[in-house]
Amino acid sequence: MNEIPLSTYGLASSTPAPVNRMMASFAADFRDGVDINLGVGYVNEETIPADHFRVAFNEVLDKSETYRKALNYGGPAGSNVLIESIRCFLTSNSVGGLDERVLGGNEIIIGANGASSLLESMAYVLPKGIIVTADPMYYIYTNFLQRTGFELLTVPEDAEGIQTEILADKIAALGPRADEIRMFYIVTVNNPSCVILSNARRRELVRLAGELSVRLGRKIPVIFDRAYEDLIHDPAVEPVESALRYDEAEFVYEIGTLSKVLAPALRIGYLIGPGGPFLRALVQRTSDGGFSAPQITQSLASWLLDHQIVSQLKNVRDGYRQKATVVRKWIDDRLGGLLENVTGGQAGFYYYITFKDIETHEGSDFFKFLTRTTGNDDIDGPPEARNPRVIYIPGEHCVNSSGELAQTGRRQLRLSYGYENLAEIDRAVELMQQAADYAEEHRR
Ligand SMILES: Cc1ncc(COP(=O)(O)O)c(C=O)c1O
Repeated sequence: MNEIPLSTYGLASSTPAPVNRMMASFAADFRDGVDINLGVGYVNEETIPADHFRVAFNEVLDKSETYRKALNYGGPAGSNVLIESIRCFLTSNSVGGLDERVLGGNEIIIGANGASSLLESMAYVLPKGIIVTADPMYYIYTNFLQRTGFELLTVPEDAEGIQTEILADKIAALGPRADEIRMFYIVTVNNPSCVILSNARRRELVRLAGELSVRLGRKIPVIFDRAYEDLIHDPAVEPVESALRYDEAEFVYEIGTLSKVLAPALRIGYLIGPGGPFLRALVQRTSDGGFSAPQITQSLASWLLDHQIVSQLKNVRDGYRQKATVVRKWIDDRLGGLLENVTGGQAGFYYYITFKDIETHEGSDFFKFLTRTTGNDDIDGPPEARNPRVIYIPGEHCVNSSGELAQTGRRQLRLSYGYENLAEIDRAVELMQQAADYAEEHRR
């Protein structure tokens, strides 16, 4: 009998996305204390304030007049108490320079399941067409967009983020196809590269989208994904400015998440932006996809934001700052001579590394050495007790395979210093040095 017929998206999704496949095979026989995972975007367990969660849980259940119906269904736009806490968090800490005046002109909605669900909803409510984004790109979302039938227009980034001059040229080169552009999706601390989008580039993006909107006679939404923006830990970085502050034409939206600064398990992501049909459609989509985020986690998040976020942010930033500094030294000391470029270290918890010659893709000697799949037992160890394995995200999965970086991506990798502790990362960088030596020997 024939298989169940699938939609285009269903068919494309019936084969796991490359990173999912890689992670699943690594996780299947992961050995705690032996193998090292520098691939996952998991936060460091030590940054999650478990004790405060316990207090929050009791408070929320005790104060049922404030945290209403915490164990029941919720409304699709999000719970009022959480929305108020987010508003207060943003204004009292002047996040992105936001104040009550700017926020007063915008709405805040909560996704059903983190920022990811809001991003997913956009693919439902926008017509198919072209999405503008930076290269390297947030591979999880862009891979999904492609499976749903969107086309990507990627623009390489430099030290300030997406290169807007090149973007302008690319839009011009599209000619009449510019009419197919549906949104700009810009990650302000990029994943994988952790490059921080400069304020000048933010303004330029809004200007370009404004110009295009006028030309096309319709709004082109500019979505700034600020997932890692609360994790800018280098004090030397100029304070970032939210583009909502100068969004006169009302097409700028910001997506944030509490995953990276409180706990991914909360699954709280929010969107700030002007009300209108786009926002209303996203709310309806939340309802269709799961009614709302769980009321209980919205209530917990509200309590944590109201009572604990300032010290929490300090702890989290200090922790990643310390790790970033030490890990960078290990990278420089052990791999330095082999590298063409390293980005990251000022925000978030990734370094994005470009080797001069050594390839990092799944078929490369470097990858095989670290995953112990060279076929040589001297390197891999005996089958019943493989030597320690290290996993990272190969650059080939982070770049647009039909863009300018397709070849460079084969020499790049994302190393996460988020999840593992320093002792493990130390060992992993040492193993990377050995893998690099092995790859060099094979090249000769
Ligand atoms: C750029 C970016 N956006 C969004 C998300 C998803 O966040 P959430 O956990 O809120 O779904 C992530 C998670 O890693 C991310 O890296």
